[in-house]
Amino acid sequence: MKVTFANLAVPAAGAVVVGVLEGRKLTASAEAMDKATKGAVTRAIKASSFKGAKHHSLTIMTPGGKLARVVCFGLGKAKELTRLELQNLGGHVVKALNAHATSVQVLVDEVEGCDLKAHEMAAEIALGAKLGSYRFDKYKTKVKEHDKPKLAEVKVLCKLSPKAKAAFEIEEKVAAGVFFTRDLVSEPSNVIYPETLAAQAKSLAALGVKVEVLTPAQMKKLGMGALLGVAQGSAHDPRLVVMHYNGKPQRAGAKAGKADAPVAFVGKGVTFDSGGISIKPAANMEDMKWDMGGAGVVIGLMKALAGRKAKVNVVGVIGLVENMPSGTAQRPGDIVTSMSGQTIEVINTDAEGRLVLADALWYTKERFKPHTMVDLATLTGAIMVALGDQYAGLFSNNDGLADELISAGRAVDERVWMMPMGEGYDKLINSPAADMQNVGGRWGGSITAAQFLKRFVGDTKWAHLDIAGVTWNKTGTATKPAGGTGFGVRLLDRWVRDKIEK
Ligand code: BES
Ligand code: MN
Ligand code: ZN
Repeated sequence: MKVTFANLAVPAAGAVVVGVLEGRKLTASAEAMDKATKGAVTRAIKASSFKGAKHHSLTIMTPGGKLARVVCFGLGKAKELTRLELQNLGGHVVKALNAHATSVQVLVDEVEGCDLKAHEMAAEIALGAKLGSYRFDKYKTKVKEHDKPKLAEVKVLCKLSPKAKAAFEIEEKVAAGVFFTRDLVSEPSNVIYPETLAAQAKSLAALGVKVEVLTPAQMKKLGMGALLGVAQGSAHDPRLVVMHYNGKPQRAGAKAGKADAPVAFVGKGVTFDSGGISIKPAANMEDMKWDMGGAGVVIGLMKALAGRKAKVNVVGVIGLVENMPSGTAQRPGDIVTSMSGQTIEVINTDAEGRLVLADALWYTKERFKPHTMVDLATLTGAIMVALGDQYAGLFSNNDGLADELISAGRAVDERVWMMPMGEGYDKLINSPAADMQNVGGRWGGSITAAQFLKRFVGDTKWAHLDIAGVTWNKTGTATKPAGGTGFGVRLLDRWVRDKIEK
């Protein structure tokens, strides 16, 4: 579905969307459409229970001339029309018209009481429409014509439309990153495994991202015993992928120094998590195809940043493995040596994500000396118990960084909630047999997992996002259709924009 822009006008044909504020207060365009249809809009509103409440709509069929329909969308109260609400509105427009129209014109005007200019509102509606239009239906071969999404174009009409277009062009690159992540987490594990996921990452070369793929032999040489231990039960070899994007303009004559240190994003990429020898129950095990969600976000984020030519130096590192039980699989009680030299007793082979990240984080810190490192992982079921599907868990060794991520999350509706860390939790993962063990007991499972990661980041400014609860959504929202959400791409793009590029 494509989104286009044009200057505000009163359309004479097709499907038209206009806004109505709470209390049946017509926007200027709603009034113009009312005039153009000789009062059909006000007549229909009067005859209905539609009052302009947000998320409500009223469709008026064949209101006159060549017009197919005028759809009044409730905007609610003007002062509550935030950027996020406008994005939701865009998503709702797509949802409401997808089965009925091939193209729709959305009329956007300034609303008294709302701080945004019409072209800003238009760009937000456009973004919401784009995000809400996502579908992953490539494996459905028997969709009935009637059920197919038809909306091919959303045309947004507003004053100063070139400004709206320019703002949307940036957001569209971010949406492309979100879509890539959604695609990757939606693919089944017979299609996406370490080698093929690495190949997907390589496609970013087209955007100027340099992509390196480390083989098992190279990882062995580096001493990545924790990551390799997880991989050893699978018929699919592991990979470690490093993506570099350097968008920060070089200062003339300056030597590369600390100011040029990259920001690093590290992702858990377990392409299927059966649990290994500590095998998971059968119910819902299919969900574990998206246990590479953290890696998926890092890939989508690199696509977003490179796509919109962000002025920042970034490295993305993803550890790709499949966690399977077999005759060669790692056993409970095995002791592995991580790249850091620290030894780990593997009590539960299903606590594999932290083993993968241990080596990925250490490698990233040692090689790139990043000024900040953020990892993402579908790490624990416990975070879903704590926060459900509304917030990702945030863990950090730096309160300033945590605050920045919380603000960024609020701005894009990918919210994160800070969880505690501390020595009392850290000691729960001490092992009698090795430097540490990979599980800490039943209580505070997300926290002991984060404490485990913390042992591999040294003094680097670091945050960990446990995205197990937010990576997949069963019901769908206006801007996140059911399935893979892409949660994390917009959040971290926003953080880069507000805190790193500035
Ligand atoms: N990938 C899972 C966590 C998960 C569960 C993600 C459900 C998304 C949905 C992770 O590898 C795992 O199995 N964690 C265990 C840890 C336990 C063995 C300490 C868990 O949460 O049960
Ligand atoms: Mn697991
Ligand atoms: Zn896992």
